[in-house]
Amino acid sequence: MTQKLRSRRDFLWSLGAFTAASSLPLGLVQVVFADEAKNFTFAYISDAHIQQIQGTKFVRNWDRGLIRAVAEANLLQPKPDFVVFGGDLAQLGKREEIDHGAEMLSKLAYKTYHVMGEHDYYLDLGEYWSKLFGPHYHSWDHKGVHFVVLNSILTFDDWTFKRWPTAEQRMLEMAGLDNPNGSPFMVGDKQREWLKKDLEKVDKNTPVVLFSHSPIQKIYKGWNFWTEDADEVQALLEPFAKATVIYGHVHQIQYNQIGNIAFQSVMATAWPWPYPQSYVHAEVNWPKLTVPMNRADPFFERDATGWQSVEMAAGRAALDYNLYNNTNRRVAFNKDTGRPEDTVFQDPARRIPPQTHY
Ligand SMILES: [Fe+2]
Ligand SMILES: [Fe+2]
Repeated sequence: MTQKLRSRRDFLWSLGAFTAASSLPLGLVQVVFADEAKNFTFAYISDAHIQQIQGTKFVRNWDRGLIRAVAEANLLQPKPDFVVFGGDLAQLGKREEIDHGAEMLSKLAYKTYHVMGEHDYYLDLGEYWSKLFGPHYHSWDHKGVHFVVLNSILTFDDWTFKRWPTAEQRMLEMAGLDNPNGSPFMVGDKQREWLKKDLEKVDKNTPVVLFSHSPIQKIYKGWNFWTEDADEVQALLEPFAKATVIYGHVHQIQYNQIGNIAFQSVMATAWPWPYPQSYVHAEVNWPKLTVPMNRADPFFERDATGWQSVEMAAGRAALDYNLYNNTNRRVAFNKDTGRPEDTVFQDPARRIPPQTHY
């Protein structure tokens, strides 16, 4: 009962435009609070990496990962209010890859929002993607939550415009996980200025959920699990009582809390990345990887691929990871500890020990 009351109070806080609710007649307030429909769900599919081999031939395994996510999301009950596709729809940014991916996503029975990934961007700098999916950054309000999409995979102009003889080479350089010719991702001044203005209009008790492709935090620079101006973006979210950042790109489950901001990653439908050996930020710890498809268990190709359903309750996100070939996981915000936690693997005895490969 206490829990219920608390969540209802949180729900009141979540209604930024509704702060006058306490002055409403009690009966009406109770009706508003009792409306569980204000909690809602959405689905999150990411990192499909659709890859053209030649002509109409595409890498079948990546196709199957996306087709399965779309089919399963369509079966969700209750139905999600919308779907987010978290970026890296294509592998090398080609029009054919984006078209093929878009066709598979068109089978979704819900409105879909798109986030730009580096694999979608660095061939034509997002031109074709924009024709299909619209602006690279924007925001909207839904059931008392303010949602924001950012393009977090931009980088220095010199790298983008002056360094490479062809667009294809630029794309290939950015596509590698551990390529020292890559360049750190960033949101950039223009979008941060837009975000500042966008968030100024939002009541600070309204929950904010931000979608990006790269993490808006500095996890591991060597693999670009990193956004160069993460600190500046975090500062814009700092005044909000409840902020959540959901990101793709890392192809693995990560969760973290920095100040008031909860961070949660989503899985890829294509392939899992291994966890970096070290999360130390120093550049001297760049890993010396040479195999672009290295992962947790190369003989178990679906061990950590899947998609997510996201439950929004009282402005907090709980991610249910629907894993194709592994135990499903749920990472939810824990009010008592003030951070997202894995509800399945918190107990050390249940954790899967690190694997050693030779
Ligand atoms: Fe990816
Ligand atoms: Fe990516």
